[in-house]
Amino acid sequence: MKAFQIVPKIREYAEFSEFAKESGLQAKDLILTNAWIFRPKIEALHLDCQILFAEKYGTGEPTDVMADAILEELQDSTYDRIIAVGGGTIIDLAKVLAVADINDTVADLYERMDALRKIHPLVIVPTTCGTGSEVTNISIINRTQKGIKQGLASPAMFADEAVLIPELLEGLPYHVYAASSIDAMVHAVESYLSPQACSFSELFSGQAMRLLTDGWKAAVSHSDPEAWKPYAAMLLRASNYAGIAFGHAGCAAVHALSYPLGGVHHVPHGEANHVMFEPVMKAYMRKKPDGRLYRLRELLGSMLACRPEEALENLFDLVERVQERKTMRSYGVTPDEITWYADNVIETQQRLLVNNYVPLTRDDILRIYEDAL
Ligand SMILES: [Fe+2]
Repeated sequence: MKAFQIVPKIREYAEFSEFAKESGLQAKDLILTNAWIFRPKIEALHLDCQILFAEKYGTGEPTDVMADAILEELQDSTYDRIIAVGGGTIIDLAKVLAVADINDTVADLYERMDALRKIHPLVIVPTTCGTGSEVTNISIINRTQKGIKQGLASPAMFADEAVLIPELLEGLPYHVYAASSIDAMVHAVESYLSPQACSFSELFSGQAMRLLTDGWKAAVSHSDPEAWKPYAAMLLRASNYAGIAFGHAGCAAVHALSYPLGGVHHVPHGEANHVMFEPVMKAYMRKKPDGRLYRLRELLGSMLACRPEEALENLFDLVERVQERKTMRSYGVTPDEITWYADNVIETQQRLLVNNYVPLTRDDILRIYEDAL
């Protein structure tokens, strides 16, 4: 049986300046971030660190091309700690850099995944309220030549420290807040339903759901798109709790089925999960509405002040008020693509599908895609 553990040390600070001071950031530290995060919150501190803006090497979800370009750029640099300050892309890239030797490419790392070792100490500071990736040991890279998103995972890819600083969420655009917090809810729900869940991971899944539903309910009661910001610390913590939970119990079908949308149509991760969330949960309801799924509905019912039988519909309504769910067609997916999607998911995403609440057949997966189309 897999032991429950939280590997990185976790710290919380109100402001980046407190973290910089206490961590003793200095010349041998490499900060991997984006200019739009650095300029408003970090630049004025005049830190004596090396700074790398990831957008110089590509934008959007992380790809092998971006990671290889950064690795090439860093070949002539001498640095010790990597301080990743950013969203999912920055964090995934930093985990790759932490285990890469000087002449490595991303393909080399996939080839020796079982033998990876940490080359650079890694500190991760998330700036969205979604990935929870600061406490997991997996990096999802779009392998452009293969046309698939694939996980690179190793115990060596855990951060040494995960640092939560709500101040860094202040500039987050609404759609990023919405998609990333919905991603965190999917992490919480998928890890709760996973057959790999244990009593400890359930605690983190459950508390993540509670903080997210509380934050969302409070925010949607105002018409102001900034109304979520007073709850940033709560949502950041929720994302971290959900990360701890799925780091143990795994994510499942929602993530697995969303990957072709990201890999082929470049739909951002949180948005793609939003598209698949409701159709996957409805498939679970058709197959086995009792058992662990009923316990989830009871738990959500207690958070949404409704009966278990209404809890999922009420959750979907609340999610819809946070952000309207789009169809797969709206991203350019055509009906004849979904057969390939289903086959591709079954072939490449078994890592996630083994965590499904109940096994899903090829026909089940096709039905889910038809519902989401
Ligand atoms: Fe996710």
